[in-house]
Amino acid sequence: MMKLSKVALAMAVVVSAGALHAGEVEVLHYWTSGGEAKSVAELKKIMQAKGHVWKDFAVAGGGGDNAATVLKSRVVSGNPPAAAQIKGPAIQEWAAEGVLANLDSVAKAEKWDSLLPKAVADGMKYKGSYVAVPVNVHRVNWIWANPEVLKKAGVAGMPKTFPEFFAAADKIKAAGLIAVAHGGQNWQDFTTFESVVLGVGGAKFYSDALVRLDPKALNSPTMKTSLETFRKIKGYTDAASAGRDWNLTTAMVMQGKAGFQFMGDWAKGEFLAAGKVPGKDFLCAAAPGTATAYTYNIDSFAMFKLKSADAQKAQGDLAAAIMGTEFQEIFNLNKGSIPVRLNMNLDKFDDCAKQSAKDFVTTSKTGSLVPSIAHGMAVSPAAEGAIKDAVSQFWNDDKISVDAAMKNIASAAQTK
Ligand code: GAL
Repeated sequence: MMKLSKVALAMAVVVSAGALHAGEVEVLHYWTSGGEAKSVAELKKIMQAKGHVWKDFAVAGGGGDNAATVLKSRVVSGNPPAAAQIKGPAIQEWAAEGVLANLDSVAKAEKWDSLLPKAVADGMKYKGSYVAVPVNVHRVNWIWANPEVLKKAGVAGMPKTFPEFFAAADKIKAAGLIAVAHGGQNWQDFTTFESVVLGVGGAKFYSDALVRLDPKALNSPTMKTSLETFRKIKGYTDAASAGRDWNLTTAMVMQGKAGFQFMGDWAKGEFLAAGKVPGKDFLCAAAPGTATAYTYNIDSFAMFKLKSADAQKAQGDLAAAIMGTEFQEIFNLNKGSIPVRLNMNLDKFDDCAKQSAKDFVTTSKTGSLVPSIAHGMAVSPAAEGAIKDAVSQFWNDDKISVDAAMKNIASAAQTK
């Protein structure tokens, strides 16, 4: 993480105070797709209803790499937003820079410690104090499908294993359709890769390889099989895949142009935003081989230190609103994720969400609840970025052998 100079830190505090109107809250995020924008608009509505001015700072680019780059430049130039979408280990890195505001007073007043799973609460704290507020729980190890395409191809149901998956993919291809809709961007390649590692090796192996970055696991026969399986999936994607945004890829499944997509349940937000009905217009299932495991991705917002009392009040209200039952329900109904707040009534949620909530609890007990590496939950941003690039290079360049890719990934995992 870049070292913020004392000047930039001092600059940050002073500048923001000057520029702000009372109760204005500027929020930097990367939710720009149909379902994402519809979801964050609910937060805007709630903040406006509290009399605050919502200043939207949306940075396009699924997965958030662009947003992270823009955020760094804004903080370095002494112009941090009031709130920014920051997740996982990156929260600790930003907090260590001394630029994040302490949210303990809101957290105490709103009883967050009793409303959050301990692991989630701990992830929002730096040296014991809350510096971020969680928004949701996304499950990443999903596969989505178009039932019409499956029917046309004579595929009986959602594949539970990779042999079943490839048999289904062969039938879809034989029916003249695209078996796997894939968006060729490094974070999307990485999202598929992590689900394959989980499906081939199981939660223990996933944790050894992609959380603890254990060289033995990274250089193991199981990783070899994972990379071979990952490369085999590519053979079922279309030639126009390179660079395609994830939501346009989801649209291919929605429109019956393709059978399957590997993607986190923000994909469901796209189906729902298009008025599609789960179980009828689209199907959801755990990615092949991963039904007894769960890769979680928790979105969260961190607040930057601002001097103005009005701005701090608006930040406090934003944090309280995000953990409030109203927002936790309406946002997650739209976003495709489930509430992070415990004991929420899920009656309005669909079967995919109910499955996610049930599996989240079950896997937290069985030890198969693991952090998504592709979505900033598992390792440092530097290591995540290096491994992501090594995995994506392997996906894009068929000349890179599986053995070479294992070496590249293992060395990328050493990145500090
Ligand atoms: C993830 C983010 C999700 C989703 C996705 C696609 O990293 O946590 O909320 O929006 O990217 O942009």
